[in-house]
Formats: sequence, structure tokens, C-alpha cells
Amino acid sequence: MSLSTALFRSGQAPRRRANDSDMRLFVANWKMHMTRRQASAYAEDFGERIGDGIPGAEIVIAPPFTAIDAARDPHGRWSLAGQNLSEHAAGPFTGEISGEMLADADCRYVIVGHSERRTLFGEDGPRLARKLARARERGLVPIYCLGETREQREAGSTDATLARQIETLAEDPAGEPLVIAYEPVWAIGTGLAATPRDAALAAARIVELLPKRRDLRVLYGGSVKPGNAAELLDGERVDGFLVGGASLDAGAFAAIARAG
Ligand code: PGA
Repeated sequence: MSLSTALFRSGQAPRRRANDSDMRLFVANWKMHMTRRQASAYAEDFGERIGDGIPGAEIVIAPPFTAIDAARDPHGRWSLAGQNLSEHAAGPFTGEISGEMLADADCRYVIVGHSERRTLFGEDGPRLARKLARARERGLVPIYCLGETREQREAGSTDATLARQIETLAEDPAGEPLVIAYEPVWAIGTGLAATPRDAALAAARIVELLPKRRDLRVLYGGSVKPGNAAELLDGERVDGFLVGGASLDAGAFAAIARAG
């Protein structure tokens, strides 16, 4: 039995929130949705819903590249993230976006290794490690995604999968802030979220695999909605969410960010 499992079973797992930041983190991953006009309308609507902001909640929106400007909050109540970045710094790479471009567009975060990038675009460990390095060169905080497939889960290899995906972080500087999004592939866009217990166990395991990290937040992602957000946060081991489908609705995303 791993340490996290033992602690969880004994009910003694410590409250685990990042040391440097006590804020929960809520990230909207818009994927390939939202024109500039839709993004502006969303920003206005969302801004009205959250007023001066949500106490204890840090909010981030990851728009498609073309809508980054339109999604910006002039009042700074949320920050911006890229959904992906190139493994190269610059050069003849048609269709790619560099870390420098994201930083220049005011992004503070960048999503790296989302399961859709892994499965649909063949992104793997070494390439993701290069992307992490490009993000760090430009001061972007990676939101590094990992999680097991249904087959891996059924084969009992969830733990080994997480450990292998975490090896990609071997060269990433341990002193820098890091966000990990635990997103079981079978829960993404399916309406079938992990149980709070499974999400908490995975978060605890991830922390256990990264003992040197001082500023680490572990998010859960996969079919988060207003109706399940509070219970998923309840165990105090999940530090927030990466939200796909439900984040396209400003009211739903605001409700999720208030759930903490
Ligand atoms: P979902 O997506 O909330 O639509 O399941 C989560 C994600 O892919 O980040």
C-alpha cells in the first residue's frame, strides 16, 4: 500500500494546499471554441457574475490563441493561459505558437500535455519535456496534465501511469511553481467524473511522487460541473479544477469557482 493510500484510509492525510499559494485554482479550458466576439461577451458576462472576484479562488481562462486578447480582463480578476505551445523557441514551424508569443500575449500559464494532445497529436514524454523547458524559458507556469486511460485503470496500472508521466518533469526546476492537472482520460468530456475519493487519492499520490516541490497545486479535471464541484473539493487534497465543457458557460464556470 502506498503512503497516500495508507494515509487516506486512516483519515490522516494532511490538508494539502500549495505552500506559496493558499488560493484554489480554477482553469477554464475552452479548447477549440469561442470566436473573438463570443470571448468578449463571455468576459463581460463572467466579470459581472464574479464582481470583485471570488475570495480564495484564482481564476484562469485558456482561450484559443485568436481569442486571447478578447478574453483578457482589464480589471485583472483572472489571468490567461495558452492551451499549448511549441517545443521550439522560434523558426520555420508553420502553425506553431511559441512560449515567447504566449508571454507577449500576457499569458501567465500554459497547458502542457493535455490528453487530447497526447492521444490525437501523438505528444509524448520527450516532446512534452521540451515544451516544459520552453515554457520555463519565458516564465510561463505549466499546467501539466496527466491521467490514466480506462484500459490502464482496468488493468490496475493507474499508479504506474502517473509515475511514468511524472518522469517527464525530471528536468523541470523543482523550485518553480507548478500546476498539475490530474485528468483521467475516461472522465474527460464523458459526463462521468472520478469519485471524490479517487481524485483525492490521485492528488495525494502525485504529491508523493514530487517530494521536492515547494509550490505545487494539483487540480482535478474531467466532467467537473457545478453539481459535483463542491464534493470533489471537499477532501482538501484537490486544489482546484481544469474545466472543459462546463467552462464554456460563464454561469457554470462562476458556480464551479465558488464551490471552494
Ligand atoms: P471536460 O474537459 O470538463 O469537458 O471533461 C476537461 C479537460 O479536458 O480539461
